[in-house]
Amino acid sequence: MLGRQPAIGIAELEMVFGGNNVKVISSQFAVVDCDFFDVQKFGGVPKAGKIIAELPSNNWFQISQKIVKHYTDQWSTFDGKITLGISAYGPNVNAREVQKTGIILKQKLKKTGVSLRLIPNTEPALSSATSHHNKLGLSQNKVEIIVAVASNGKTIIAESTGSQNITAYANRDQERPKRDAFVGMLPPKLAQIMLNLAVGGYSKISSKTPCSSEQPLVVLDPFCGTGVILQEALLMGYSAYGSDLSEKMIRYSRDNLNWLADKYHAQFDWYLHEDDALNAKWRQPIDVIVSETYLGQPFSAPPSPAKLVEVRDNCNHIITEFLKNLGSQITPGTPLCIAVPAWRDKTGQFTHLPLIATIARLGYKPHEFTNISQNDLLYYRADQIVARELLVLTRM
Ligand SMILES: C[S@@+](CC[C@H](N)C(=O)[O-])C[C@H]1O[C@@H](n2cnc3c(N)ncnc32)[C@H](O)[C@@H]1O
Repeated sequence: MLGRQPAIGIAELEMVFGGNNVKVISSQFAVVDCDFFDVQKFGGVPKAGKIIAELPSNNWFQISQKIVKHYTDQWSTFDGKITLGISAYGPNVNAREVQKTGIILKQKLKKTGVSLRLIPNTEPALSSATSHHNKLGLSQNKVEIIVAVASNGKTIIAESTGSQNITAYANRDQERPKRDAFVGMLPPKLAQIMLNLAVGGYSKISSKTPCSSEQPLVVLDPFCGTGVILQEALLMGYSAYGSDLSEKMIRYSRDNLNWLADKYHAQFDWYLHEDDALNAKWRQPIDVIVSETYLGQPFSAPPSPAKLVEVRDNCNHIITEFLKNLGSQITPGTPLCIAVPAWRDKTGQFTHLPLIATIARLGYKPHEFTNISQNDLLYYRADQIVARELLVLTRM
């Protein structure tokens, strides 16, 4: 299942599994051809499931019959109590009808002596929070059935293998000792997405495996701020290297990473120093660059046209000079994912950084996605003026 901004989830899946192994079946779902899928590793995927059946139509009566038949067969000799949730996305059905399917199944199983607790549906689909709190998909007796209607009218029935751990994300965001509202902290989920967008590119071009324990991949964030990307990189098993112009931010990152090591009782490998990304000389090796660069000042209302040009040109200058400096220190093929600012006006139109259109002149090649366009990778909330535009690049 894809998140609030589906293109970003699709991009993440494509980078990790390859464009040809990801089939987008609707605006909400993609099918991935893989042996194993850990939903906790994907910031852009709120729920995941293993396909158990495909039906030629989206008729709820047929879907419901299929679910009841499949699970009465499967659970008729089950030892213990089952917790079940049903989530329907797309079929023309209301919460009561979805619930009814669960009740029919419960009654059938009762006859064979199997007890089932049904999670009430207030909507046709359970929220990821409900799925997570009930631990659905995490053990054999806690099951969520996901019904997804594809754009072509066919239906996929899948059994959840888990939902995003929203509690862990919130803790990693809010419990950190050092936060800075002005710098604007990146949500850990987005940091995870950006890491996947970059490291996915790395594993395709290199024989070095991203998580090999002897020699972990070095992820550089030259605008590290309070260290959210470094934190998520460490949790994914990489070595984290951060620099920032501000001495205060380096202290903040250090405090936050020490807190992380305590919290996870882990020995993490990180390196930090104060430096201007426009002329820093970074320590080698650098395997991957993941960074939320300078986004300019925050705005609570759209700026005047003159102000917008001023801020855009300033950011464009800083990020251009950063990319030039970086380019001279990384080897061809090095993958990057950087977040740069784009400004949203009242009509929903974006002003982009001019450097994006001529990025090849700076020596970087944008990744070509199979199912989406690089221009779709804009991350923002409804009330935000400054969006983060994700650039997935390779040093040429
Ligand atoms: C948008 S914030 C990054 C926030 C970060 N992702 C976090 O998790 O807190 C941008 C950061 O870039 C830093 N910065 C601005 N200009 C810089 C420059 N020329 N070189 C290095 N860092 C710079 C700022 O100090 C700030 O911490």
